Amino acid sequence: MIHVLVLGAAAGGGFPQWNSNSEACRRARAGDSAALPATQASIAVSADGARWFVINAAPDIREQINREKDLHPKTGLRSTPIAGIVLTNGDVDAVAGLLHLRERTPYVLYAHPRIFAVIDQNPIFQVLALGVVTRESLTLDRTVPLAGPGAVDSGLRITPFAVPGKVALYMEDESKGGDYGTETGDTIGLEITHAEGGGRLVFIGNCAAVDENVRARVAGADLVFFDGTLWRDDEMIKRREGVKTGQRMGHLSMAGENGVMQALRNQDIGRRVFIHINNTNPALVADSAERSEIEAEGWEVAFDGMRLEVP
Ligand code: MLT
Ligand code: MN
Repeated sequence: MIHVLVLGAAAGGGFPQWNSNSEACRRARAGDSAALPATQASIAVSADGARWFVINAAPDIREQINREKDLHPKTGLRSTPIAGIVLTNGDVDAVAGLLHLRERTPYVLYAHPRIFAVIDQNPIFQVLALGVVTRESLTLDRTVPLAGPGAVDSGLRITPFAVPGKVALYMEDESKGGDYGTETGDTIGLEITHAEGGGRLVFIGNCAAVDENVRARVAGADLVFFDGTLWRDDEMIKRREGVKTGQRMGHLSMAGENGVMQALRNQDIGRRVFIHINNTNPALVADSAERSEIEAEGWEVAFDGMRLEVP
């Protein structure tokens, strides 16, 4: 059994976003039950409900931990049920939360070498004392146990795999052409299974295209979390809330010809859940026509505090 806890459902900026005066953000601030606030994307997984591994350290992680009893310290004066953090990219909304977890309680940080290199270029992350926060480099397509401090096997296995995406926004290099210096490993997806068998969870929080690799990974999965940043590729421009398309930001859209729903329509997937949903995406609002459309397609929209299980 894999226990899954959604810590945050929103994309970078969260919902409501600090500087957005959109109708949806105003509804969220007003306590509208169809526009529930959401923190930035992260999930936690556990085999036993006691030791947890957090996928991506959102800037909101402090609030997320405080909100979830399962993540509160249970023993001694200083401890945490969080045995490890797995990073799937180097974006601010995936790594900034590490700065909250700096008070010298051990956990293991799992990431691709490309992401460790980004962290090493930013001296502020030296606040994570090496030797306390230990590192496990992930190799694409190689399955490893999630173990945590002391190499105590949790029973969970992860397999990182390459996903079409983009280098972190603050690492973009215009001189390197159309992909801004993106390399394999900048964006990964994760397959999560249990050593004793059972179901398979696939987490793809950032994705620019459904290629054959992505398609093969999600096929037959019991639970898939998928990048739900935008409804349509040009929605931020059309709404005059931004200048970039989803593709420019490294994100596929939910709807339309080349959207996620269309791309995965005929896949055999148990439960399909959108996560990393931008505050401009109308499907984030529960009473929108777009939300109904998603649900009619068999998709769910993650929300903060959502609990799921993979048998
Ligand atoms: C993204 O998902 O595109 C990033 O989180 C953007 C950002 O860093 O704000
Ligand atoms: Mn993001």
